[in-house]
Amino acid sequence: AFAPDRHRPLRGKHVLITAGPTHEPIDPVRYIANRSSGRQGFALAAAAAEAGAQVTLVAGPVHLSTPAGVIRVDVETALEMEKAVHDALPADIAIMVAAVADWRADSQSGQKIKKKGAAPEPLKLTENPDILAGLARHEQRPGLLIGFAAETQKIVQHAQAKLAKKGCDWIVANDVSGDVMGGANNSVQIITATGSENWEQLPKPEVARRLVAKIIEEIA
Ligand code: CTP
Ligand code: CA
Repeated sequence: AFAPDRHRPLRGKHVLITAGPTHEPIDPVRYIANRSSGRQGFALAAAAAEAGAQVTLVAGPVHLSTPAGVIRVDVETALEMEKAVHDALPADIAIMVAAVADWRADSQSGQKIKKKGAAPEPLKLTENPDILAGLARHEQRPGLLIGFAAETQKIVQHAQAKLAKKGCDWIVANDVSGDVMGGANNSVQIITATGSENWEQLPKPEVARRLVAKIIEEIA
């Protein structure tokens, strides 16, 4: 018999995904950023939509086209990303893939800062809110909350610490010491309360499909 739900196992589920970097303005022409391309988050949005989910993708500034069937909300800064995430609730599953800038300029100059032939005043920074940790404490906390962790060393220890500190259910730890950020492949370890899985290096769309398969298994 025809069984559409077998092929669309996330039908009826709202999946909320953040992706890409954020840009934190210093003045009208300068900003703080990082090397995230958004590729892993966009691949996850595509895989979740293919599995039948309703997908909201909150995207920082990236040069990628929107995957089919995905609702995309473009933002620039961490504060804008936080608001867009809250506005998208409720969600059944949230996957925070974005490389949110940890700091923003304490104050923005309304005019372009001019050079003066000497070292400038040091830039004063302030910490951005942790969107993932905030979602874990939110009254509409998604039933399955997944964070990513960009690490260059002691991957599992740092990821386990983040799982505990942020209050999410899984951490997908990326080894970003190579060319992962902006690259085509990803090598990840999945850390949960009960253990960890080490996946071989795979193309980002394949990491996305496997992660969606693991999510489907978890919520079944
Ligand atoms: N994250 C977030 N908001 C922030 C910083 C991070 O939601 N302001 C999320 C990321 O989207 C990711 C997870 O938290 O899912 C871990 O991000 P990461 O940068 O690895 O961790 P940090 O807690 O920022 O710690 P650090 O950068 O110092 O390692
Ligand atoms: Ca960080």
